[in-house]
Amino acid sequence: MEQSLQILSDVSIKGYNTFGVAASAQHLLEVSDEIVLLNSLYELRSFKLPFLPIGGGSNLLITNDLEGIVLLNRIKGIRCIEERHSEVIIEVGGGVIWHDLVNYCVERNWGGIENLALIPGTVGAAPIQNIGAYGVELEQVFEELTAIDLETGELCRFSHEDCQFGYRNSVFKYEQPKRFFIVRVRLRLLKNAPLRLSYGRLRETVERMVREENCSLNIATVSEAVCRIRRSKLPDPSVLGNSGSFFKNPVLDAKDFEAFSKQHANAPFYALGDGSYKVPAAWLIEQAGFKGYRSTESDAGVYEQHALILVNHGNASGNELLTLSKRLQATVREKFGITIAPEVTIW
Ligand code: EPU
Repeated sequence: MEQSLQILSDVSIKGYNTFGVAASAQHLLEVSDEIVLLNSLYELRSFKLPFLPIGGGSNLLITNDLEGIVLLNRIKGIRCIEERHSEVIIEVGGGVIWHDLVNYCVERNWGGIENLALIPGTVGAAPIQNIGAYGVELEQVFEELTAIDLETGELCRFSHEDCQFGYRNSVFKYEQPKRFFIVRVRLRLLKNAPLRLSYGRLRETVERMVREENCSLNIATVSEAVCRIRRSKLPDPSVLGNSGSFFKNPVLDAKDFEAFSKQHANAPFYALGDGSYKVPAAWLIEQAGFKGYRSTESDAGVYEQHALILVNHGNASGNELLTLSKRLQATVREKFGITIAPEVTIW
């Protein structure tokens, strides 16, 4: 192989996944330039090994040593490609850290992603699971993306429609996993963006900051409020290994929800407006008695301040975390008749 590729072999990837799970990768390649990857693909494909694209490794549970070529997305760059009276279109490298992008936009008063502050991971990973928090999802600002098709070696464009966004889902997550390496993403942001404060705790925090700290009612305050809320209830992966919400919130149809709410009148829920209801998986897990649970056999546990987050207290293996997640699923199914599905990608 060419030296410029800097392929590493038999590499520990403990530092490349926020669960901090120890495993090794057969080969690993840091990609900071799309042209280098495009020019090398023919040769890389001749190895006949699977490609394993990784961004921040923050939505990933690794249960085995990785056989194949890990492609770390480190493509940088943020540029404004169109500026109009009321909006901007920006193009961002897939390897840019998502929260750095939020800060960059908030500093310029470009609104649309301030509610998504402090979400771990990279810009390239954001469309894969249509990241969302506090009433906003990526798809609301998404324009298009450019990706390298690792099967054909071609550069492809995906429109909003092509991405087939759903709740923590897109065409890249289940239909075509690992096939595309996301090079850059275009977002449309607003210069005088309306504030999105539908999420109760966010509105309260912002109002308090305005009242008590003289903060202005603007996107910088919203972003800061989101950071405070997240820091207060979500563990920092650099301190305690985790991957954010481990499960998706299950959606019940009207009939199932009626039966559920009759039995559990105190359960929180969120009407989706189409007759179906979202029930917080965190509540189900907490009611099943697992909030703050810590395995006696391993370092796998459930975060004590938020039941939707599985944590690695030190040396949990991917399989130990997976076993715990299956136990949570089985207990929730038994107690409530509801299946909770992982949000995290499991390799
Ligand atoms: N709750 C409990 N026990 C807990 C935690 C929460 O009963 O330990 C209940 C509370 O009633 C709370 C409700 O669950 O009102 C919802 O909790 P929260 O507001 O924390 O949101 P979530 O549904 O658990 C989702 C996203 C998060 C996002 C927040 C805020 C998913 C899978 N997760 O979590 O996203 O930050 O809403 O918008 O949709 C992520 O995807 O990694 C992530 C952190």
